[in-house]
Amino acid sequence: MVRIPGLIDAHVHLRVPGGKQKENFTSGTAAALAGGFTMLMAMPNTQPPLNTIDLWRDTQARAEREGLCEVVHFAGVDPSSLNHLGELGQVAPALKVYLDETYNQTQGFDHTALDAIAESWPRNKVLALHAEGESIAIAISLSAKHRRPVHICHVSREKDIERIALAKREGLPVTCEVTPHHLFLTRSDADRLGPLGDMRPTLAGQRDVDALWAHLGTTIDMIASDHAPHTLKEKNDPDSSPPGVPGLESTLPLLLTAVSQKRLSMERLVELLHTNPVRVYGLRRQADTWLEIDPHALSTFPEYPLRTKCGWSPFSGMPIVGRLLKVVLRGRTVYADGQLTGLQK
Ligand code: NCD
Ligand code: ZN
Ligand code: ZN
Ligand code: ZN
Repeated sequence: MVRIPGLIDAHVHLRVPGGKQKENFTSGTAAALAGGFTMLMAMPNTQPPLNTIDLWRDTQARAEREGLCEVVHFAGVDPSSLNHLGELGQVAPALKVYLDETYNQTQGFDHTALDAIAESWPRNKVLALHAEGESIAIAISLSAKHRRPVHICHVSREKDIERIALAKREGLPVTCEVTPHHLFLTRSDADRLGPLGDMRPTLAGQRDVDALWAHLGTTIDMIASDHAPHTLKEKNDPDSSPPGVPGLESTLPLLLTAVSQKRLSMERLVELLHTNPVRVYGLRRQADTWLEIDPHALSTFPEYPLRTKCGWSPFSGMPIVGRLLKVVLRGRTVYADGQLTGLQK
């Protein structure tokens, strides 16, 4: 048995408000606990998005009432809501900005708007960016020009991670995350999975995957699931299949399997999923919170019904080594032997 701290997923979509057929705070945090996460950072691309102080506060309060573990919300912004950043910057721990099109986000920001965001968001709080391809250069230049921390979400391509590595060598306060799907799946899985293998950024080639693994011990600050639940019905609709895959329950099993294959050490796993998210986002420590893990147990994913409301996973059928035995959250056992326990708050 191995004991490690409660994990933090710094990039999830819990779909509140506006997406309750996909997920809600109870189902999303149940999936989190079953996956070894005791703290989540939830994205603001909800419907409507978390671009105003009132909606941010209401949603955060609701997560505190309904969530089974801690949830912290990013603030959001679009080109018409720049004037709300001052207020949001006083309460939200981080801001998320979408530089490229993705689910529920289509607006483009011009240079002037990006400069205004980079100037008005507090310098001691992270500016997290959805940035792909050419937008990676924009993200890095925002950090350089405005001398401020910038975090790049779900890095997936070799040239992108190399660019970020260079920026870090130059001393810029740039951090980044990768997802398990970009570490464990390639374009050939996308062919096999059809719409269930579609997300932003899309799955890449083996060379890209190899580059991410090569940077996992250095350039990459964290692994975040980008848990992006959509129902099977929505995913299979050929006219409007939304991008995104769930990940809260598969991340730890996949990474424990990598640990068993010596592709990753348990110490580095803890840095990527606990220590570095705390440091980068300045999160509060959770007292008396830990996981118990059997590093040798064998299974096939998923061996149990998933707790995410979307109910499917792109990793079904994968052989898994290692199992989460127990989650203790603030001194209380909240998950044991495959069951959620003692969830009264
Ligand atoms: C995310 C979603 O569904 O909200 N989808 C995705 O493909 N990653 C949005 C995002 O993180 O870009
Ligand atoms: Zn500019
Ligand atoms: Zn994104
Ligand atoms: Zn996302």
